[in-house]
Amino acid sequence: MKKFDDTILITGGAGFIGSHVVRLFVTKYPETLIINLDKLTYAGNLENLKDIEDRENYLFIRGDITDEKLVLSLFDKYPVSGVIHLAAESHVDRSIINPITFIRTNVIGTVTLLNVCRDAWKDNYKGKCFYQISTDEVYGSLGAEGYFTEETPYDPQSPYSASKASADHFVRAYGNTYALPYLITNCSNNYGPNQFPEKLIPLTINNILNNRPIPVYGKGENIRDWLYVVDHARAIDLVYHKGQKGETYNIGGNNEWKNIDLVYKLCDIADHLLGRENGTSRKLITFVKDRAGHDLRYAIDSSKIRNQLGWLPETPFDKGLTYTIQWYLNNQEWLQHILTGAYEKYYEQQYLKR
Ligand code: NAD
Ligand code: DAU
Repeated sequence: MKKFDDTILITGGAGFIGSHVVRLFVTKYPETLIINLDKLTYAGNLENLKDIEDRENYLFIRGDITDEKLVLSLFDKYPVSGVIHLAAESHVDRSIINPITFIRTNVIGTVTLLNVCRDAWKDNYKGKCFYQISTDEVYGSLGAEGYFTEETPYDPQSPYSASKASADHFVRAYGNTYALPYLITNCSNNYGPNQFPEKLIPLTINNILNNRPIPVYGKGENIRDWLYVVDHARAIDLVYHKGQKGETYNIGGNNEWKNIDLVYKLCDIADHLLGRENGTSRKLITFVKDRAGHDLRYAIDSSKIRNQLGWLPETPFDKGLTYTIQWYLNNQEWLQHILTGAYEKYYEQQYLKR
C-alpha cells in the first residue's frame, strides 16, 4: 500500500452528509488516507460514493462505532491522526418511535470512539483531533425572534437531540478531563443529493414524483434554516484544518423557511422541471397530525465561523433546490434501490397508521 502523509477516520461516510465530506476529502487531499467506517444501516448507502470508491487514498470498512475491538484494530493498523465523527441515527421521527437505538449509536458510539482516541493518542496529543459533527437541535426551540449562538444553553427537546446533546457533553468532558483535542460544529438543516427520503425535502420530492400525498405536519408553520450539503462539507473541511481546538462553531444557511412555504416552492420547481401544469403538485399537499414535541423554529447565528474562519454559504437556495430535484429525477435507480420493504414499513407506521 502507498505511504500516506496522514490518515483520517470518517465515521458515517456512507450517509447523506458523510458521503459529501468523504468525497471532498478524498479528492482534495490525495496524500491523506481517508478511512470510512460505516455500519450501513438503512441510511448508509455505498452507491453514494461510487465515483470515488476506487481512489487509492480511500478505504471503506463496514462496522459499528460501538464495536470497541474493531475501532481499536483500526487505530492499531493505521496511524489515525483525526476522527471526523458523523455516524449517527439522525431522524427525529424515528427517535420518537425508538429512542434506544439513538442512545446506543449517538451516545455509546461516540464515547467508544472517544475512549479509543484518548488511549491511542494520550502519549502525544499534538496534531490529533476528535471532530464531533453535531446539530443546532441541541439548543432546543426558538420563538419568533432570536438566534442560536455558541453560548446558547443546551435545551434538547427530542430523543434525537437529547442523544446528540449528550454526545457533545461527553466530547467536551473528554477535552476537560483528559485534554483530548476536539472540535464541535452545530449545523442547521442540510439538503441536497443523496439524502434519504424520510426527511422533509427528499420525501416531498419522492412523493411528487410518485403522485403520493405530501405530508405536512400540523399547519406547516414550523421554521428551519436550510443549508446546501456541499456548503456544510466545505465548512467541515475548514474547521477541521483551521478551527481552534476546544472550540465550537455554529454553521447555518441564514435561510429560514416555514415548512409550508418550502413545500410550495418544491412543488412549483418540480412542476416546472417535470413539464407539469403549475399548481399540479401543490394539490398533493396534505396536513397531517403534528410531530410530538415539534420544535417551532431553528435559526443559526453563524457569525463566529464567518468572522474567524471566513466561511460563507455559497449556494443560493433556488439553485440548490433545483439541482437537488433534478438529481432525484436523474437518479431514480438510486431511489428504487433504497426504497425497500423496510422503507414502506416505516412509511406505513409513520404516516398511514396515525
Ligand atoms: P444519515 O442518517 O444520512 O447517515 C448516517 C450514517 O451513519 C449512515 O451511513 C449510517 O449507516 C451510519 N451509521 C449509523 N449508525 C452507525 C453505527 N452504529 N456505526 C457506524 N455507522 C453508523 O445522517 P446525516 O443526515 O448525513 O447526518 C450526519 C451527521 O450530521 C449526524 O451526526 C447528524 O446528527 C449530523 N447533522 C445532520 C444534519 C442534517 O440536516 N441532516 C444537520 C446537522 C447535523
Ligand atoms: O436542524 C438539524 C437537523 O435537521 C438534523 O440534526 C437532523 O438530523 C435532520 O433530520 C433535521 O431535523 P428536522 O427534524 O428539522 O428535519 P426533517 O426533515 O425531519 O423535518 C423538517 C421539518 O419538516 C420539521 O419541522 C418537520 C417537518 N416535516 C417533516 C417530515 C419528515 C413535515 O412537515 N412532514 C414530514 O413528512
